[in-house]
Amino acid sequence: MKHQRILLIGGTGFIGRAIAGELVNRGASVTVPTRRAVRGRELLPLPTVRLVETDVNDHAALARLMVGQDAVINLVGILHSRRGEPYGPDFARAHVDLPRAIAVAMKAEAARAGRPLRLLHMSALGADSAGPSMYLRSKGDGEAALRGEAAGSALALTVFRPSVVFGPDDSFLNLFARLAGIAPVLALGGAEARFQPVFVDDVARAFVNALDNAETVGRSYELCGPTVYSLRELVKFAAQSAGHRRCVVGLPGPLARLQALALEYAPGGPLMSRDNLDSMKADNVAPAGWAPAPELHLGPLASVEIAAGWLGGLGRTGHLDAFRRAAGR
Ligand SMILES: NC(=O)c1ccc[n+]([C@@H]2O[C@H](COP(=O)([O-])OP(=O)(O)OC[C@H]3O[C@@H](n4cnc5c(N)ncnc54)[C@H](OP(=O)(O)O)[C@@H]3O)[C@@H](O)[C@H]2O)c1
Repeated sequence: MKHQRILLIGGTGFIGRAIAGELVNRGASVTVPTRRAVRGRELLPLPTVRLVETDVNDHAALARLMVGQDAVINLVGILHSRRGEPYGPDFARAHVDLPRAIAVAMKAEAARAGRPLRLLHMSALGADSAGPSMYLRSKGDGEAALRGEAAGSALALTVFRPSVVFGPDDSFLNLFARLAGIAPVLALGGAEARFQPVFVDDVARAFVNALDNAETVGRSYELCGPTVYSLRELVKFAAQSAGHRRCVVGLPGPLARLQALALEYAPGGPLMSRDNLDSMKADNVAPAGWAPAPELHLGPLASVEIAAGWLGGLGRTGHLDAFRRAAGR
């Protein structure tokens, strides 16, 4: 790879781990900052990954991380924030202030080193400064801030906007599979909202394929899977794959909002929020006629049905459960 030294911000998360794996397979050296080293433990077996415990929101720490890097991938994102207009302070910090600070630090490093730097940024499908939710508005403003910083500079920016991402460690299909194990009836807000789920390994390949490809600079890419499903269909599929035939009931607007409000204050952190419900006011699907951009060289994309393979065992190591039982562990 031309870009050999990669700073992978947000690399300890679900999508970050897949991208780190793909980068390592292609021979890159990857630095992954994390606020708590324990969150990066799954990356430790990867031979060319260096985990650094630091806070990327600290501008001095961010500047130090940039030194000697060829490219930065920013994946930082959160699903919940305190409320505010047009979005709450947590969304502002993670989705707008941090991307802008990354771009500013990169421009300073590019000037110091006398060479351009590559930036891949993770946004979300439907990101829009005038979108229906705080999440989508903050993601839209984050994109706009980055485009502003990159214009006419030594920053070579590419933006990715996936629909919901699924994989063995996701917290979407796995959550519904787990809930189906507890609840006889699944009551859902936004049951008819539509999604076009994309496999985490396809997302990882899109990022890593784009890295060295000059054709992708200055562009935004929607990332979606081959099929559109309603939330109701996805929940039924997850439940069934986990071995539970469950009735899925769509909640009408006011009841859905009440449920989301209650789940916002669930012990152990919000399971769902009113803002998540607002995000579902707009379908999370690609525009009609969309196809993956040929320059990303993705080939056929995985469809959600492959998730049945791991949802049955609930998680990536579920297939080992039979061995564990046989060994009495
Ligand atoms: N998963 C999906 O279905 C989906 C769909 C569309 C778009 N996206 C976007 O894709 C990105 C990655 O998603 P994911 O599912 O992999 O998320 P994830 O598993 O929750 O991981 C989030 C990552 O962001 C870091 N992070 C979170 N808040 C931070 C903060 N305030 N300051 C610094 N670092 C922070 C975490 O680092 P620590 O190690 O420091 O905790 C972690 O590495 C996000 O931007 C998300 O919006 C995801």
